[in-house]
Amino acid sequence: MATKKIAAKKSVGITGIGMCVPKRVLTNQELEKMVDTSDEWITTRTGIKKRRIAEPGTASSDLAENAARKALESAKLKPEEVELIIVATITPDMPFPSTACFVQSKIGAKNAACFDIGAACSGFIYGLVVAKNFIDSGMYKNAIVIGVEVLSSVTDYTDRNTCVLFGDGAGAAVLQHVSSGGILSHYLGADGDLANLLYLPGGGSKNPASADTVKNKLHYIKMSGTEVFKSAVRLMTDAATHAVCEANLGCKDISLLIPHQANIRIINSVRHRIGLPEEKVYLNVAKYGNVSAASTIIALCEAVEEKRIKKGDIVVLVAFGAGFTWGSIVIKW
Ligand code: ACO
Repeated sequence: MATKKIAAKKSVGITGIGMCVPKRVLTNQELEKMVDTSDEWITTRTGIKKRRIAEPGTASSDLAENAARKALESAKLKPEEVELIIVATITPDMPFPSTACFVQSKIGAKNAACFDIGAACSGFIYGLVVAKNFIDSGMYKNAIVIGVEVLSSVTDYTDRNTCVLFGDGAGAAVLQHVSSGGILSHYLGADGDLANLLYLPGGGSKNPASADTVKNKLHYIKMSGTEVFKSAVRLMTDAATHAVCEANLGCKDISLLIPHQANIRIINSVRHRIGLPEEKVYLNVAKYGNVSAASTIIALCEAVEEKRIKKGDIVVLVAFGAGFTWGSIVIKW
């Protein structure tokens, strides 16, 4: 009897990563001189000790270029072989063209399709899911997903409620088919009813840039911190749990959880709810603060660098952000 061979579906995985943070460090002690705050308040309420700030004139595409070059090098991929570039950011170089197009030009990836994703802090995970599905569909063989922010360009350094939280940086991941491991599952969500809790009102079609929008500081991040905090704990817990279930795993199977690095108290609450010990959660919020779309990929890069991840490990990325948006992805390394 003839047997029909069915080719096993190939997985999509991360084959290269890279990150870039600006040199300039902004410490809590410096912030004490800028607004009515203290190192003690920032440390106990957020876990942040310092953050990186880009030099004036640095665009998101500059940091993204550097991270993308490193990711390509580690994936041993030439720029002209890249088929898709997705940039997740809420601080694009400009409203258009997309920051992905600027990155394409800077790295010389002339054969790539390019677009940006605006899903705030969940943007990198949204980008991974989109890229994975493009590769699964057969449309592209590879993609670079970049999370990048120059949040210092939209932060009001006279507002103590927000200026202590944010930093700048970029991270990039190359996705391709892999022979073992890869992305096992993912989960994305959004709730536009909560948009007014975290937003940047000025400069878009609703409030076009004008002398008034500048005078009223509408080009800066506005946030209802306490409400965001509560939703973040609930949504990150749900997202991680859903994605792990989708992969037919339990939370006990997680080797390393890489959460969005917004606030140590949010991360600890999520960790307790999921039931993970401290050593299974990666933290670098003290060094970089909240780098929005770049947060989880920078954390992944540092976790790999520090050898916190080994082949076969179950790595879970989880994030939430403005929108609200949330997402989680389970990767077998
Ligand atoms: N220094 C000193 N006091 C401060 C500071 C500061 N830097 N910032 C706020 N306060 C004061 C407030 O004015 C307020 O004072 P009041 O009670 O006299 O009005 C008080 O501290 C508020 O304190 P708490 O209730 O303890 O605030 P909370 O525990 O909620 O912590 C924080 C505030 C850190 C902002 C927290 O709510 C938080 O992290 N929220 C989540 C933010 C976040 O994660 N955003 C991520 C999304 S980013 C994105 O998508 C782009």
